[in-house]
Amino acid sequence: MAVDNSVAEKYKKIFHFSDNLRDGKVPTSALRENDPYQYQSGLGNHFESEAIPGTLPYGQNNPRVSRFELYTEQVTGSAFVTPRDKNKHSWLYRAQPSVANFGTGPPPDIPDVEANFSLGNPHVQIAPTQIGWLPFDMPQTNEKVDFVQGLKAVAGSGDPYVGEGVAMHMYLANASMEKRAMVNCDGELLIVPQKGTLDIQTEYGNLWVQPGEIVVIQRGQRFTVKLPDGQSRGYVQEVWGSYFELPNLGPLGSNSLASPRDFLSPIAAYDIDKSEWQIVYKQGGKFSACIQDHSPYDVVAWSGNYVPYKYDLTKFIYVGSISVDHIDPSIFCCLTAKSKDPITPLVDFLVVGPRFDVSVHTYRPPYYHRNCASELMGFIHGEWMGPAEEFYPGGLHFETGFVPHGLEPKVYNKATSLEPPVMKIMEHDLGFMFESSRPLLITNWAWNHPRKHDHDHSNVWGGLDNKFIKYQQQISAVIPMESGDKRTH
Ligand SMILES: [Fe+2]
Repeated sequence: MAVDNSVAEKYKKIFHFSDNLRDGKVPTSALRENDPYQYQSGLGNHFESEAIPGTLPYGQNNPRVSRFELYTEQVTGSAFVTPRDKNKHSWLYRAQPSVANFGTGPPPDIPDVEANFSLGNPHVQIAPTQIGWLPFDMPQTNEKVDFVQGLKAVAGSGDPYVGEGVAMHMYLANASMEKRAMVNCDGELLIVPQKGTLDIQTEYGNLWVQPGEIVVIQRGQRFTVKLPDGQSRGYVQEVWGSYFELPNLGPLGSNSLASPRDFLSPIAAYDIDKSEWQIVYKQGGKFSACIQDHSPYDVVAWSGNYVPYKYDLTKFIYVGSISVDHIDPSIFCCLTAKSKDPITPLVDFLVVGPRFDVSVHTYRPPYYHRNCASELMGFIHGEWMGPAEEFYPGGLHFETGFVPHGLEPKVYNKATSLEPPVMKIMEHDLGFMFESSRPLLITNWAWNHPRKHDHDHSNVWGGLDNKFIKYQQQISAVIPMESGDKRTH
């Protein structure tokens, strides 16, 4: 399916999705103009969808014989006894059940995915200071590299077999998955395309995901990524022992940030295909495969709440200070995944994009800070204005917990010498942060990558001079030495 790239370019320049609806000149739609699919709205709803009317059973889920002799299959994503408000499952009505395959075949060779982020693993490294990566190259080969083949783990913490942890990946691909489906048994995948549209086929239907949108594929679901634009690059956040959900809003009330109704799940669409398919499983970061003689996307109807979804980041409703100072970056939280610690998220997905900045008597860019979270920032489009130099779309920037960071001197001096105007900021820029409570380790693939660069620390932040010391005389006048002053001179 062809992509109208003028639409993709247009969405890089809009301030907010609602710009489409200005003056009623464009018909109201939940979708970008070039999205070919239909969706259902809401997050965590119990949806139902049927590609052939009358194929869903009513009053029960597992009839003795389904209409058209479809097989019934339940997919359960939570423990059976998980409380009702957290219980995740779906019922699929399909031409052949998933077990109709010929067993495990040769494993695919996908070498750069890691799932053991512990200090005993020689394939991961500690990053004690700020590091960055220039934009990662697309595959430098004439061979076809699809989404699953192009997965490259960058950082992570924990282990899916321990039941809690995270991993961050890049995908660098040049070809569609052909007769191949991926199943991630380890955890949910939050995918952030940076370059190239993703046309994703799932058992629940199709999702069209463009740069500026994200998609979440839950654990155990089958999906195939097609690349209608050819080369494609993006970021992936994987969570183990948890799942993505909307953050609580606290004093914000019932609205703002990401709205539940802006999350879109597919409608049923099926293929009856008697050709050979490879189903690739990822378990503990290792890949295996089985072969079957039919499409895995033969689901005619389904119901349930264990369903993939997408979200357009241009719909995010930013909040911020309307008087003085900054609010903590948690105000940018689009989705969060809980940890086993009830007061600490495992990871937050934060959106950083176009908004108004109106606070006064402060300086606008981020203050100097150290915090317990690991920050892995990605950049989708635009020109970054943050504290990191050499940060471009398709690249990464990383600080592990308590690594100090903030503005370089020239930006700080400019920001503190000017009276801040009320202004739109990051008008054509879109970035994000994977912010995790876990101390992240860096994979050897990322650590040894030619695009990795250290910051020129002494020539940048080393230039933050001591402005305080020149006020010695005035300070002495305020605090006389006789009062027990412990200052050194
Ligand atoms: Fe930070």
